[in-house]
Amino acid sequence: MISRSTIDKVFETARVEEVIGDFVQLKKAGANFKGLSPFTDEKTPSFMVSPVKQIWKDFSTGKGGNAIAFLMEHEHYSYPEAIRYLARKYQIEIEETQQSDAQKEQANARESMYLVSAFAKDHFVKNIWENEKGKAIGLSYFKERGFTDETIKKFELGYALDTWTHFTDAALDQKFELTFLEKTGLTIVKDDRKFDRFKGRVIFPIHSMSGRVLGFGGRTLLTDKKVAKYVNSPESEIYHKSKILYGIYQAKQSIAKEDNCFLVEGYTDVISMHQSGIENVVASSGTALTTDQIRLINRLTPNITVLFDGDAAGIRASFRGIDLILEQGMNVKVITFPDGEDPDSFAKSKTSEELQYYLQHQAKDFIQFKTSLLLKETENDPVKKAGLIRDIVKSISKIPNVIQREVYLQECARIMDISESILFNELSQIFKKESQQGTSKPSATSHTPFTGIKRDKKTLAKVDQLYNQEKKLIEILLLYGNLEVDFVDYVQETNNLGQKFMKKEVYTNGVANEIYLHLQEDEIEFTNPIFLKIYYQIIEQLHQKDSIEIENFTNHEDGEIAAAVTNILMDEEQYSLSDWERHDILVKSKESKLSKLITDAIYNLRRVLIEQKINSLVSGIPNKNSTTSAASIQTVKQEDLEMVVQYTALKQLLFDKLNRVL
Ligand code: CTP
Ligand code: MN
Repeated sequence: MISRSTIDKVFETARVEEVIGDFVQLKKAGANFKGLSPFTDEKTPSFMVSPVKQIWKDFSTGKGGNAIAFLMEHEHYSYPEAIRYLARKYQIEIEETQQSDAQKEQANARESMYLVSAFAKDHFVKNIWENEKGKAIGLSYFKERGFTDETIKKFELGYALDTWTHFTDAALDQKFELTFLEKTGLTIVKDDRKFDRFKGRVIFPIHSMSGRVLGFGGRTLLTDKKVAKYVNSPESEIYHKSKILYGIYQAKQSIAKEDNCFLVEGYTDVISMHQSGIENVVASSGTALTTDQIRLINRLTPNITVLFDGDAAGIRASFRGIDLILEQGMNVKVITFPDGEDPDSFAKSKTSEELQYYLQHQAKDFIQFKTSLLLKETENDPVKKAGLIRDIVKSISKIPNVIQREVYLQECARIMDISESILFNELSQIFKKESQQGTSKPSATSHTPFTGIKRDKKTLAKVDQLYNQEKKLIEILLLYGNLEVDFVDYVQETNNLGQKFMKKEVYTNGVANEIYLHLQEDEIEFTNPIFLKIYYQIIEQLHQKDSIEIENFTNHEDGEIAAAVTNILMDEEQYSLSDWERHDILVKSKESKLSKLITDAIYNLRRVLIEQKINSLVSGIPNKNSTTSAASIQTVKQEDLEMVVQYTALKQLLFDKLNRVL
């Protein structure tokens, strides 16, 4: 683990505009910088960096955060990877926290395996460019397949000489320990003999998402059917075949940018498509897709397009893997290729425009594709058609989203020319069976085919009102929490004639303090968990330091808090994208009206809460179908009605206050 003090030092040193400046061209705009979003293909800049607040926001995608968040978003680093990157950039020495001896040893072992793998990659690459045999055999092979120098370098392709110990000797010569050569599988040790795993093969290094070499695939140059076409690195502490996708490192930025990932079978498919300008592509390396691999893609995009090259039987065999994608709530499209073609051969026989056009126009929705394919096979066979319906609905049942499921059922009913209700029936039977077997997920059991959509919309509207009011208060706390403001209130007094009147009172208070007192008085809690967390931290800071320090939030280790606060701050900043001068004026006038802004926000939150209370009371009054006895209905009703009356009066009072403070 990286020590806290190293992390702090990185935060103190790193400047968000410098970090981002390495990836995005930034231009000064008032107090801020702006540039073209690195996440979309926009023409007018909507990407903004605030050097004062040390945060950024991309208004075209809504993403934003501090320097770390940018690296995680743009380079797809994990948090520690981002810290390490910044430490390197700013030449900060990384201090590790105390680890147990066993932990240290394990971390050292893994690190040594990474180092050996990096060395091996360099060794194979050097062979292909500098070794006479490597050039004559390895490089010519790739050239014959049409790969350019640039492509060969991009994927760090290499060659292992056709000798027994060329690699192992070189590694031992460089003082790499045999244990790690063996653990990575690069060297095979038998008794006291040792020899290279990869021999006379072209080498495809397999990279992690962040670019470290984990393992290798080695392809034979022989056409002899008895020789295995590929030899791959064995499973090891650093290489887990089921958790990695070939090409993810080279593809990640394009996947995020295009918001889609093409999935192919082989190493060569990935490489040829890259060379034809399609960079958002990864390979499952010839094995069945796993959930871990799907999640890897899901970090970058919810959209997958599977490219099939086999025959119908091969395609059917991969249906199960695709159900796994649906289960992750992702959208799946499929593309098939003409007989005998795979993405590699197809990409080579077409111009890159033709390939792009083909991919764009041939992509079919998976469920529709599966339905049509199976439908063709079951024509005129009612028994088989029944099986097909079950099969399709089973796929649809994997989709976690209720609305999407419903849309698919309707669509399939149309394609198969049967009534929707048959499909809905089938679906609820699948769910029933799953819940009996205890295999269903909560989202699956809560399925309500015909009322689902309406209900969702209604609750959504209600939640939004509360959310907005809570957000407003958090916004005020973050932006103006440290200011002192004159507040106005009206209190009822009685004059010496016994007449009641409202007296205006002006008092000065800190903004954060004022809000805190009001909320405490009413025992109001934020319902949104992130707002609640932010609120608690604001209060804590207030008690400890008497002021709110924004950096503590934008650099917060809880990513959700950091993201929420950044969004609020940068939304405010957005005005400067068009006109900084005007923005300045806007802020001033906003501050002069601050007192009203705050009181309104508090009263509005109360109003929404009271409305909710009234609604829940009204809907909670039992109706006549209830089994409760008549007498108890009477009392419940009476009490609740009184409450409703009281709350309504309160609501009226709030409306009065809201108007008066105007
Ligand atoms: N594969 C493997 N071992 C094999 C055969 C295949 O690991 N003996 C994996 C490789 O990851 C390979 C993928 O399955 O990339 C697809 O197999 P295939 O289409 O046979 O290989 P390609 O890489 O497409 O090779 P080529 O284009 O040279 O036929
Ligand atoms: Mn292939």
